[in-house]
Amino acid sequence: MIAERAGTRYNAGIMADSFKIMGLGGKKSLNGSIAVSGAKNAVLPAMASAILFEDELRLLNVPGIEDVSRMCELMTSVGILAQYDSHTCRLSASGLHLHSLDEGIGKRFRASIILAGPLLARLGKVEFSHPGGDVIGPRPINIFLDGFEKMGAVVSEQGGRYTVTAAEGSLKGADMFFPYITVTGTETLMLAAVLAKGTTILRNAAMEPEIPDLANYLNACGADIKGAGTSTITIRGGKLLRSKGKEYRIPPDRIEAGSFVILGALAADSLEVTNCEPEHIAILIDLLLRSGVPLTVSKNSVSIHDNGKIPNRKFKSFTLRTHEYPGFATDLQAPMVVYLTQVAGESLVFETIFEGRLNYTEDLVKMGADITVFDPHRVLVKGPSALSGRELESPDVRAGLAFIIAATVAKGESVINNVYHVDRGYEHIERRLRGIGVSVERVSSL
Ligand code: EPU
Repeated sequence: MIAERAGTRYNAGIMADSFKIMGLGGKKSLNGSIAVSGAKNAVLPAMASAILFEDELRLLNVPGIEDVSRMCELMTSVGILAQYDSHTCRLSASGLHLHSLDEGIGKRFRASIILAGPLLARLGKVEFSHPGGDVIGPRPINIFLDGFEKMGAVVSEQGGRYTVTAAEGSLKGADMFFPYITVTGTETLMLAAVLAKGTTILRNAAMEPEIPDLANYLNACGADIKGAGTSTITIRGGKLLRSKGKEYRIPPDRIEAGSFVILGALAADSLEVTNCEPEHIAILIDLLLRSGVPLTVSKNSVSIHDNGKIPNRKFKSFTLRTHEYPGFATDLQAPMVVYLTQVAGESLVFETIFEGRLNYTEDLVKMGADITVFDPHRVLVKGPSALSGRELESPDVRAGLAFIIAATVAKGESVINNVYHVDRGYEHIERRLRGIGVSVERVSSL
């Protein structure tokens, strides 16, 4: 099945898989190089963009992760050809005939909502359920729905299922101001606008690097999108795009890159994180350099070389405040909190984007971290603390990887359950981490 072709093993059993990790107890012995995969949060909107095309679209550097499998499944269910094989995805919307997105699949991952924009724009109608996703706080979709309405659609909702219909059969361009910066909201409405008649202006738009990267590709295929990567995006829409065989290479995952750099800072003798765009994690690199981590940055890699000599307690603490790009990514907050538990001093961490995204810190406390929760958005981390191995539940994709980092640094054995969440965003993470010396094994309960 598609899920198997994506190199993943989604079935009832994988949800019960665990990682068993033997920690280094503070030793810094990881060694070698680790390559960053294509970005989860770039590939999902890129897949959805296939609906805007007259011909077939080929994506390269596609990560073999659960969310890609789910997206293939969801797109296939409405008649789109969506096939993953060896980091390549072939997509064609020529057979698209259904406007109703499966509830069960859509509820499993938030990014399913990105399909709503291009489907509505191409078919004039879409039906979908409130999307699921991580347990990181409320995930409303009001900005998406307002945007559809501004573009001339009528929205109705019954029992959490939405029906959106373009009143005149197709969408029309609109000028809109987002009350909050929303990444998938910007992507969804930008894609919808490519087929809407006239000009759409998205103000207070997200500036995450995945957005201009995709816009550049769409422009090369006939779209007219200006300003992507800034807070005002202008789209002149109205006609289907043609790839004419031009392939789109998914950019490297900046969250994975940043997490590997943090792991290296804490536990490496000598580590090179390759195949990444250091510019996309500039703020993380800056914070770690100021903290004292010996990093070197080249065009597509970041290296840590301290020959295991600098104990983590010599690194300095800092205040961390998550922010939309180019600020510090909320998706890197959990790995960075693990870092802050190991360095000297107090760090105030302010999670500004999501309400439930500090809950995992309770488990770090059980491992020995000194973390005081002030409110759902702020914690105080005091370091350094020696962590000890524990049994943990992976709550979401990013905190799951943070637990892997914490378990690697800790003394003794940890078991991380529910690694389905980690598989949603990271391809074969255990194999890749073993390659640099992490003692991690997947334990299947089947
Ligand atoms: N918001 C609203 N109304 C909306 C949409 C968003 O109030 O209609 C609020 C949210 O509640 C939140 C804020 O706006 O407080 C920002 O949410 P955003 O919409 O930007 O989040 P998202 O698009 O759902 C994407 C990533 C997340 C990442 C956030 C923030 C994808 C598929 N997901 O989510 O990634 O944390 O942007 O950068 O791109 C992850 O990969 O683990 C992940 C959660």
